[in-house]
Amino acid sequence: MTKMRLDRVLSNSGYGSRNEIRKIIKSGAVSVDGRTVIDASLHVDPDRSAIEIDGEGLCYRKFLYIMMNKPAGVISATSDIRQRTAVDLLPEWYKNFNLFPAGRLDIDTEGLLLLTNDGQMAHELLSPKKHVDKRYYALIEGLVTQEDVKCFEEGVILDDGYKTMPSELEIIVAGSSRSELRSEIELVLHEGKFHQVKRMFEAVGKRVIYLKRIQMGGLKLDEALKAGEFRELTPQEVLLLVDKEQVAQV
Ligand code: URA
Repeated sequence: MTKMRLDRVLSNSGYGSRNEIRKIIKSGAVSVDGRTVIDASLHVDPDRSAIEIDGEGLCYRKFLYIMMNKPAGVISATSDIRQRTAVDLLPEWYKNFNLFPAGRLDIDTEGLLLLTNDGQMAHELLSPKKHVDKRYYALIEGLVTQEDVKCFEEGVILDDGYKTMPSELEIIVAGSSRSELRSEIELVLHEGKFHQVKRMFEAVGKRVIYLKRIQMGGLKLDEALKAGEFRELTPQEVLLLVDKEQVAQV
């Protein structure tokens, strides 16, 4: 790794804002290869130098990847003056990492949202050229039929005239009837148009009552995460997102 300013290394590692970090460095709490450093602009190689803060070794991580089970009522954004955002749900410590959501879910959609500060990875994940598949679970008002499966396979015409790419609709429960007729489905999309799942069902005369994203590429939502909970990805899970072979096999 190339050398970077010491204050940037510390801020990338979650030790506070650049201002706070300069104060920490000035106080003499930071050492590099055993020597106290008070110059925040010193260039260091975080992979080769032993950096300590108050005697504790720094574990440098350039990028963070967080899987969140986004709850309904929260928007996929970093900040907003009116609405609570996915980033607002993270503890204070994570706020120093400039995390942002890689992709969007509607305010009423739950499920897998990736938060990261890796712009390149987010770009690749969302790029139409890369075709990273997204799998959704949904509750639909009415009876979803094999005819709908066929329509989705062929592509449906949305309200703006756009014909969707072929998608895989799987009926889990057709018309589970309690007081009203509902169906449970899973749908894999190979593209990401605005409100796409809801608009596709509208195109076949049905309404989405509940929507949850459960997979992006090879990355599955951890079922142990309740709505609003999150955890960092394991190194293997990060690889799933960058490994094109595995990403292709949803
Ligand atoms: N499709 C939708 O309609 N909404 C989402 O949040 C995601 C996909």
